Amino acid sequence: MFAIPHLDIPPLTSAGGTVRLPGSKSISNRVLLLAALSLGHTDITDLLDSDDTRVMLEALARLGCRIEPQADGALRVHGLGGELPVRQGQLFLGNAGTAMRPLTASLALLAARHGGAFELGGVPRMHERPIGDLVDALRQLGCPVHCLVSEGYPPLRLGDGSTHALKLDKAIRVRGDVSSQFLTALLLALPLVAQAQDVVIEVVGELISRPYIEITLNLLERFGVAVRRDGWQRFTIPAGSQYRSPGRIAVEGDASSASYFIALGAIAPATPGTDGITIEGVGLSSIQGDIHFVEAARLMGAHVEGEANRLHIRRGSWPLKAIDLDCNHIPDAAMTLAVMALYADGTTTLRNIASWRVKETDRIAAMANECRKLGATVEEGADCIRITPPASAQAWRAASIHTYDDHRIAMCFSLAAFNPARLPVRIEDPKCVAKTFPDYFEALFDVCATPAALIPVICVDGPTASGKGTLASELAQRLGYQLLDSGALYRATALAAQDAGVALDDEPALARLAAQLPLAFRDHKVFLGGRDITDPLRLESTGGMASRVSQHLAVRSALHALQQSFRRLPGLVADGRDMGTVIFPDATLKVFLTATAEQRAQRRHKQLISKGFAANIDSLLADLQARDLRDSSRTHAPLKPAEDALQLDNSGMDIEESVQQVLKWWQGKTVFPGN
Ligand code: DC
Repeated sequence: MFAIPHLDIPPLTSAGGTVRLPGSKSISNRVLLLAALSLGHTDITDLLDSDDTRVMLEALARLGCRIEPQADGALRVHGLGGELPVRQGQLFLGNAGTAMRPLTASLALLAARHGGAFELGGVPRMHERPIGDLVDALRQLGCPVHCLVSEGYPPLRLGDGSTHALKLDKAIRVRGDVSSQFLTALLLALPLVAQAQDVVIEVVGELISRPYIEITLNLLERFGVAVRRDGWQRFTIPAGSQYRSPGRIAVEGDASSASYFIALGAIAPATPGTDGITIEGVGLSSIQGDIHFVEAARLMGAHVEGEANRLHIRRGSWPLKAIDLDCNHIPDAAMTLAVMALYADGTTTLRNIASWRVKETDRIAAMANECRKLGATVEEGADCIRITPPASAQAWRAASIHTYDDHRIAMCFSLAAFNPARLPVRIEDPKCVAKTFPDYFEALFDVCATPAALIPVICVDGPTASGKGTLASELAQRLGYQLLDSGALYRATALAAQDAGVALDDEPALARLAAQLPLAFRDHKVFLGGRDITDPLRLESTGGMASRVSQHLAVRSALHALQQSFRRLPGLVADGRDMGTVIFPDATLKVFLTATAEQRAQRRHKQLISKGFAANIDSLLADLQARDLRDSSRTHAPLKPAEDALQLDNSGMDIEESVQQVLKWWQGKTVFPGN
């Protein structure tokens, strides 16, 4: 089996336009939990829709929390008000640290108070991510917590079904030097039990990732709990604390996700006609620590202007300036600096990033490996990384980036596609971005540009009913490419002619119609001037009319530019008659698909019957042969294989076999190691 789970990003040369960011993961999951713990209901807007928030929503629903989408797009969470309607259960939390840690703390306290018992676990990587410091803190409080497989790691059992008195008199001590998420988890949970007395948390060791604690404190306040803070060592949750819904709360755009587009604006020359990159949904008034990435990007030479809820970025110094920076305050966004360092004028050192080692993967090792594959020289320390860019354009290499199931690695390395050697970059498992930014690549390609000649095209030409359409759309889907069904353009011209009463031999009138087709493709449907023509487009009679319309040179010329405009990032699969010969003569791979006329007639017959249309196989065969003759004997762009086309007779093959064959040819055309 030859699956292609990766995405090949062609060399990119410029960028410009506006990006709207999805909601912040850290804020989304905190707000969801706070809303669930509060008294009253909360309407949440702009919530991130991703793997990690889905995991949190499912967990809350299992705990008896009612969650309802509202007509205005908000999500209404009915708070449990500190109660525990469901007393036991198993929760699967994927690889979502922002769900695992806070739920562990809250459920441990609630289970001890109400007599519950819960098991929390996730994917194998989650079971390698330490949680011992939080477990220790919860045990100090008197909560039964049992590590089911390995001490200090999930999966965990919280509570034992009986109630337990909590020890709230002494300060609760928690380590702050491995992950700030343990402190966040306690800060979110302890207001549930701070009715009768103040509850104090003492941080042991130097607290890392402080900005995330600021997000937590900020949101606690929005939900009615004002924590007192003495430096970064001591936090007091005042007696009488109780979560109260703010009614409605908007989640701001993800500042860590913004880092990729800030870096993009700093690395890419502005696309002509644009003024660089504008980011909406997050700006200088953000409560997220990663907004300070802006300052780091400026140090490297980016030109960034900001408003409360918006950022604007242009390239400043070029090459970028190498920096030596303590990144403790921007641990996630700092990964993006590592990729910016590939475009710098010297060696960049990122320090105080020990937390990278316990994230989705060991991020220091991962960043080092992948930067080296691109041709950089990298030194790794226990809590730092030092990156020297490839010595010259020739020293860059085409790399297949391993993503370690880490969304940030996938997103960061997309920026390597601006390399001066104009090499493509392969991202293995691009779907891992779903953790925080499911549409990342679409958003990226929307604002990036590159000369058409650098965008790969696969042409699938062949006679009617040869299976081109199915093959082309399968290929496009698996490769994440755009799809051009050029026959649909001729068919739509024929329908437009029918609507307008234009005769099929009136070349000038047909060409005028073709030049201004009000055609739109949306949600797998085709619209002509607002009319859904998806079904009429596929009729045999429409195909016959299209074949006649397509004889005219003026019509073919009128559709030429429209067809070429489908050549967009990251690549195109084009199906038709003359894709390889006329429209995309420089295509990377040209396939000429054939099957015997009898086979094709049978397939078409089956297809029509399955859609409920009446069909006669003999007349289908006759029509098809007539169409073949007309399409291949016409003067302009006749149906014939391009000289450099690979021929595929799929008479004896099923769809999957044809797809596999073409993917194999395609793989042979790429420049990545191993081919
Ligand atoms: O692929 P199809 O059956 O949808 O195409 C309908 C007609 O359009 C076909 O008979 C010839 C014409 N056509 C063409 O001339 N050039 C193309 N690239 C695609 C289709």
